Amino acid sequence: MTDFARTIPFSSRTMEGRRIALIGGAGFIGHNLALELTRHGAEVHVVDGLQVNHLMYIASQPQLENQSLYLQMLHDRLKLLNEAGVKLHAVDARDYLKLTAVLNECEPQVVVQLAAVAHANRSNKDPYTTFDHSLRTLENALDWARSSCEHFIYFSSSMVYGNFQSQIIDETHPLEPLGIYGALKLSGEKIVQAYQQVFDLAYTIIRPAALYGPRCVSRRVGQIFLENALAGKSLRVEGDGEESIDFTYINDLVQGICLTIERPEARNEIFNMTFGEGRTIKQLVDCVRKEFPDIVVNHTERDNLRPFRGTMSVDKAKDLLGYHPENPLEKGIPKYAAWYRSLEKEIRKLAVA
Ligand SMILES: NC(=O)c1ccc[n+]([C@@H]2O[C@H](COP(=O)([O-])OP(=O)(O)OC[C@H]3O[C@@H](n4cnc5c(N)ncnc54)[C@H](O)[C@@H]3O)[C@@H](O)[C@H]2O)c1
Repeated sequence: MTDFARTIPFSSRTMEGRRIALIGGAGFIGHNLALELTRHGAEVHVVDGLQVNHLMYIASQPQLENQSLYLQMLHDRLKLLNEAGVKLHAVDARDYLKLTAVLNECEPQVVVQLAAVAHANRSNKDPYTTFDHSLRTLENALDWARSSCEHFIYFSSSMVYGNFQSQIIDETHPLEPLGIYGALKLSGEKIVQAYQQVFDLAYTIIRPAALYGPRCVSRRVGQIFLENALAGKSLRVEGDGEESIDFTYINDLVQGICLTIERPEARNEIFNMTFGEGRTIKQLVDCVRKEFPDIVVNHTERDNLRPFRGTMSVDKAKDLLGYHPENPLEKGIPKYAAWYRSLEKEIRKLAVA
């Protein structure tokens, strides 16, 4: 039995034969979601340009640390999708006509919009490209969905809140993003809600944070820590390590998205979808140290554009959807480390590099 099969409390009957399009679905969240939806009988179509944080970008970066490992992970994603029978449409969603043609062909009942430059630092360095891949793709997808589909799911982010004003925040917290990424995510939320007002297109907005798990190539903190630990390199902590983040194992989020698709209560709602507990970077280091007792930690300056966050309450998702995250860092990091160790050959190359 898979890890997912044990945990997901939704009924696969409601997924059977459901046509679902994932725009940006070859990404980290998207391919994990596609595999899970397929396991529950849905007909999943992945629409992805493979250009942003994917094969075409990574292949063009010979200087990128662990490049060959990431290329391997991206190939593995496509192989898994192929083996699961997920249909991959290699289309740039910025192209209105091509996206419309693909969606007309597969006629999804549910559209999940994941495409974006999904990284705050990269967004601040290249706002133009970020706008295009995040908002242009969104507008194109909404324009098809407004007359042709039942439910539109938009991936926002914890970054729409900016600095958290208290240790625990819920979905009513003020929205004051810092920087390009959060501002575009918030703009996206407003556009999605406007389509509901004008065209009665049912939506759900999901706000995740700090995901980690197998086949992620985004170089967020958990991934970099594990790869460095495996390669015998030191871990670099930005700031004093006391700031907390609501780290979320990918399986928990995927379970929540499945519930969002299945449950009518999700319609026209916004949900925080994280583990539901802020943990400090020091605590993350401690979890990595349990796996790799000899790690050395260095501290560097913190990026001032990164908001101070904390716990995102997931009570609303628990109450309305039956969301039930199961992986605190103490469970998620060992699973993630075990997965890395299973890539024996690639890891040996990483240690040599
Ligand atoms: N991973 C996280 O921790 C996290 C946290 C909060 C929010 N999110 C949001 O969730 C969504 C998915 O994140 P992810 O981690 O899977 O990111 P990812 O970078 O792994 O995946 C994004 C996918 O979108 C595709 N894409 C980008 N532009 C495209 C275009 N023009 N046409 C077609 N495809 C395009 C990319 O090829 C990539 O496969 C993003 O919107 C992101 O902002 C992610």
